[in-house]
Amino acid sequence: MPQSRRRCCVLVECNTGADRCGVPTPEAAAALAQRIVKAPGLVFGGLMTYPPANDAAAVESFMNRAKAFIEAAGIKVPVITSGGTPSMMDAAKAPVTTEYRPGTYVYNDRSLVSRGACTWDDCALTVLATVVSVPAANRAIIDAGSKALTSDLLGLSDYGHVLGRGDITIDQLSEEHGRLVSEGPIDLKVGDRLRIVPNHACVVTNLVDVVNIIERGEISAIWPVVARPDRLTTASGICRRALLG
Ligand SMILES: Cc1ncc(COP(=O)(O)O)c(C=O)c1O
Repeated sequence: MPQSRRRCCVLVECNTGADRCGVPTPEAAAALAQRIVKAPGLVFGGLMTYPPANDAAAVESFMNRAKAFIEAAGIKVPVITSGGTPSMMDAAKAPVTTEYRPGTYVYNDRSLVSRGACTWDDCALTVLATVVSVPAANRAIIDAGSKALTSDLLGLSDYGHVLGRGDITIDQLSEEHGRLVSEGPIDLKVGDRLRIVPNHACVVTNLVDVVNIIERGEISAIWPVVARPDRLTTASGICRRALLG
């Protein structure tokens, strides 16, 4: 297509209650849709929102009203898209939507367990850490700090869940060290390996070039993290070498 005839399809982002981005009312959504339709080079693609947690009714109400206003102006609304893992299981309660964009559900994480959206068994992403010091009976240090787990609390008060050790709290992180404390004896020794479910999978996966895919306890593949494009070439090379032997 010649440069002059290229058109960009855009959606109107709506604030349905999460109070992040978006137009604040259905009327404002309709007004913006009408401006888009008149703007040279733009095509109106529909409506989009990142919804408030556990409030599909707010999405349904906002989007139905916005759609009605827009259609009353003679404009079609091809797509109404919502998203977010915490409310994923309630997606059907907003039938006006045509699409749902969950992200974190691919891995799940500790914040989603704490909100009741999944269980520890549903958490696919773990950070494998090694105990490097046991300086006191109720304290141990691992080789995973904020560069591995991130300092993102996501509403929690400590830095991850040690699988199988609900008695342990990761109460402090420095860059390369995590501090584990327990009420009773911590019962760990240098060299022990621990799997940690991070508070927030999205920011952790972005810290590494590749993830090990584990099936039945064995690494079956090594996948590049494509959200790190500067590392993609290297990561693909590593994966190819690892997979081809
Ligand atoms: C616009 C948008 N859609 C979808 C998602 C996916 O959300 P979640 O990771 O909660 O599944 C996000 C995450 O921040 C987002 O910003």
